[in-house]
Amino acid sequence: GAPVEVDVDKLAPGEMMVVEWRGKPVWILHRTPEMLAALAKAEPNLADPGSTVDAQQPEYARNAHRSLKPELFVAVGICTHLGCSPSSAFQAGNPALGADWPGGFLCPCHGSTFDFAGRVFKSKPAPTNLEVPPHKYLSDARLLIG
Ligand code: FES
Repeated sequence: GAPVEVDVDKLAPGEMMVVEWRGKPVWILHRTPEMLAALAKAEPNLADPGSTVDAQQPEYARNAHRSLKPELFVAVGICTHLGCSPSSAFQAGNPALGADWPGGFLCPCHGSTFDFAGRVFKSKPAPTNLEVPPHKYLSDARLLIG
């Protein structure tokens, strides 16, 4: 599949857009300072906080925020369990997920949960963190996926 170019400068903090790349949904989430702070809070409960599975992200996304720019998160929006599409951006304190839920994503199929960097929580059916596709910035405003 061909690479996909996306303008990201109009994506406001807290907003997420979905583009298609190789027939898959790719999420671009502009994380707020609160969402970034929630990453540290999630860490004790993550199955693989260090993102150690090579195939799940390029080397440049193997960091705590799993991205090139801390505020912009780019990921394939497909659950690593059986391929459902997790629901986006459940805010911290969502009553359905309990008072200590730090925010992130929920897969409706079998209940896997992921933080705002797509890192899977412990004891969930999804075996790995969400995939981060190869990507780079052509300019501040322009992202190339693929
Ligand atoms: Fe997402 Fe099973 S497909 S938890």
